[in-house]
Amino acid sequence: HPSNSQMGESSMLKRSECRAKGGAPGFKVAILGAAGGIGQPLAMLMKINPLVSVLHLYDVVNAHGVTADISHMDTGAVVRGFLGQPQLESALTGMDLVIIPAGVPRKPGMTRDDLFNINAGIVRTLCQGIAKCCPNAIVNLISNPVNSTVPIAAEVFKKAGTYDPKRLLGVTTLDVVRANTFVAEVLGLDPREVNVPVVGGHSGVTILPLLSQVKPPCTFTPEETEYLTNRIQNGGTEVVEAKAGTGSATLSMAYAAVKFADACLRGLRGDAGVVECSFVESQVTDLPFFATKVRLGRKGAEEVYQLGPLNEYERVGLEKAKKELAGSIQKGINFIKK
Ligand code: NAD
Ligand code: LMR
Repeated sequence: HPSNSQMGESSMLKRSECRAKGGAPGFKVAILGAAGGIGQPLAMLMKINPLVSVLHLYDVVNAHGVTADISHMDTGAVVRGFLGQPQLESALTGMDLVIIPAGVPRKPGMTRDDLFNINAGIVRTLCQGIAKCCPNAIVNLISNPVNSTVPIAAEVFKKAGTYDPKRLLGVTTLDVVRANTFVAEVLGLDPREVNVPVVGGHSGVTILPLLSQVKPPCTFTPEETEYLTNRIQNGGTEVVEAKAGTGSATLSMAYAAVKFADACLRGLRGDAGVVECSFVESQVTDLPFFATKVRLGRKGAEEVYQLGPLNEYERVGLEKAKKELAGSIQKGINFIKK
């Protein structure tokens, strides 16, 4: 016979499951890599998001500990934990949005591309699960190197016959968040008033801030342009070095991931005018993937915006970015095709 407390627990669980199944308003979101440095604060912030009704937390370690902890927060979303590969399909079934921060982070001296050998395989496995269990979900890919993992995901989905470029979004929001912060510092403004488009990709010279398009409109000296461009391009390395071997950006990344995921959910809800930068399939340049502003709607990235007018400094930066991006994209495609 179950004890009273066990009976109490199981009937309460049934009620919350009823609430989840009975169509509590909101979206179903899975985080893959939820026990990690990004995953934990991201899970916490998504549990607070009123657009989320169900939150699935998947990891290969400690998923149940993080789930127990987060599930005590008195916010709307029902939280469930999933541990290890055998539970991946349950974690993904029925999801509207899947956020992927799974994989290893950099240590000082490494490039993001040095993570390819481990993270490419992780992303492939997770995307095979998505293709099988929630092929219509929007995917927010955070795992590095984003310039290669997004093409990997696209190839996995193509192979499975589920690829829709509108639903595959590489997360570059942290570059925009940093750019807004650093530009606001230079201008003496509140960062919340500043918007800097950052295009290209998510690594070194492929991160191209368009300082000529900053809102509110402003001008920079050549020295300011050089300082800001370098600082934005090396923001990730700045954190990796400060953390001295214990990892890369996690807290600012969780903030950026939630900013982007919330925009995706508002788009799914049908809100008008939701625009963010993201690394997506693109015809804006001659490369198959590129980050620019995109409009998020019910189908995902429904519109991919052009670059707009660039100044000479940005045109030179664009050529450098494209050269490096081309190799990273091809490397990702080859990983699945060959
Ligand atoms: P972390 O090591 O703290 O956490 C990663 C988590 O992934 C761990 O909990 C680990 O158990 C889990 N994991 C490993 N293999 C898995 C698998 N097969 N399935 C599910 N989960 C798995 O690392 P972190 O600091 O959270 O960073 C995660 C990734 O995000 C790194 O690749 C990092 O480079 C990247 N990142 C990207 C951006 C961006 O702007 N796109 C910013 C910061 C970090
Ligand atoms: C970042 O930009 O902070 C991430 O891509 C992590 C890293 O390796 O720099």
